[in-house]
Amino acid sequence: MRVLIIGGDGYCGWASALHLSARGHDIAILDSLARRRWDSELGLSTLTPIRSMPERLRAWEHVSGRAIRFFEADATDYVALCDAIIATQPDAIVNFGQQRSAPYSMIDRDHAARTMINNTLGNLNVLWAMREHAPDAHLVKLGTMGEYGTPNIEIEEGFITIEHKGRRDTLPFPKQIGSFYHLTKVADSDQIYFACRVWGLCATDLNQGVVYGLHTEETALDPELINRFDYDGIFGSALNRFCVQAALDHPLTVYGRGGQTRAFLNITDTARCVGLAVESPPQPGTFRVFNQFTQTFSVLSLARLVQRVGAKLGLVVQIEHVENPRVEREAHFYSSLNNNLISLGLEPVLLGDEIVAAMISSAQTYRARIDRDQIMPTVRWKREAVHGTVEANAQERAG
Ligand SMILES: NC(=O)c1ccc[n+]([C@@H]2O[C@H](COP(=O)([O-])OP(=O)(O)OC[C@H]3O[C@@H](n4cnc5c(N)ncnc54)[C@H](O)[C@@H]3O)[C@@H](O)[C@H]2O)c1
Repeated sequence: MRVLIIGGDGYCGWASALHLSARGHDIAILDSLARRRWDSELGLSTLTPIRSMPERLRAWEHVSGRAIRFFEADATDYVALCDAIIATQPDAIVNFGQQRSAPYSMIDRDHAARTMINNTLGNLNVLWAMREHAPDAHLVKLGTMGEYGTPNIEIEEGFITIEHKGRRDTLPFPKQIGSFYHLTKVADSDQIYFACRVWGLCATDLNQGVVYGLHTEETALDPELINRFDYDGIFGSALNRFCVQAALDHPLTVYGRGGQTRAFLNITDTARCVGLAVESPPQPGTFRVFNQFTQTFSVLSLARLVQRVGAKLGLVVQIEHVENPRVEREAHFYSSLNNNLISLGLEPVLLGDEIVAAMISSAQTYRARIDRDQIMPTVRWKREAVHGTVEANAQERAG
């Protein structure tokens, strides 16, 4: 199949692009390289020395004999997006190309607005471009399990059948956002569902859990193919950050009580799930939702796992409960279905001691690149943010 991957220079997109290419699909990547710019604006860098896009693509062609075409373009630039779709005539478009950090979207008004425009306009453009130039293509869109929040009932896959005042209907599952970033994902889902209903497009919304891990079969083939690995307070996610902290003799920073329970999956499974979705498109006019995760963990249970594995490796790992910068429940019920991908044949990579040991060992390999100042959270959800209150920021701008 011809597959256009938007956001293919990023963590999930790069792993998925190589996986699909290795499976024989004809891959093109469209990426604005915005994420590399956001990192440098915020003074952040991935633990791993990722190569430039041309270097990565040359290395992949050398290793696999397969070429991947690259369009440096922004999904918010409608003309450039349409040009790439016309040039590639994709059977599937996979959209990873968004600002994906909740803390980033909560820095201040400017970053919330950037996130809104980048994600919501980008998604809207993809839908209109498909309507105009690729109406039969299948859209595979990355959403997040965070769209659902933490309801006190089991989370269904996208839709719930409810009875109300004696009547019954199947409706989108309620969404309860945890940041402006999550709000963009909810808006995307609504836009896509609507476009499927009115234009007959077909789409799969992958509500993905938190991704962990560094290598996949393909990215491990050559050091030039290495993926990004974020551990900082803005883009880093819990388990990746804990493994870096363990390698650095830095206490594992559990936000609040640590009872926050979330859905997780290995980066290898991200690529496989995207492959399964691409290779089994739904009927035209269908909007389907898959909950893309394999396991659930509380933040504290992940910290304890890293502490135990660290001890086996001879590391003394402390756990520190730091003030929670977010506004979220720290003890709650959490249960979700994930049957759709399993029924398509996903055999999950389950998190265990070996995987955690490998992640700590990767962090040790690149220890010299770790910047301790990036680790602690710098963005707070409440008004008294480290970047100043709304009023103080306004005064500063006013000079
Ligand atoms: N990483 C996770 O744990 C996780 C969890 C749930 C959902 N997701 C979703 O998966 C997707 C990919 O996440 P990731 O971790 O790979 O993020 P990432 O930041 O590593 O990669 C995103 C890529 O998209 C590109 N991009 C951003 N906006 C763009 C635009 N307007 N036009 C073109 N390219 C653009 C960036 O340059 C970057 O290369 C995101 O949509 C994210 O919300 C990720």
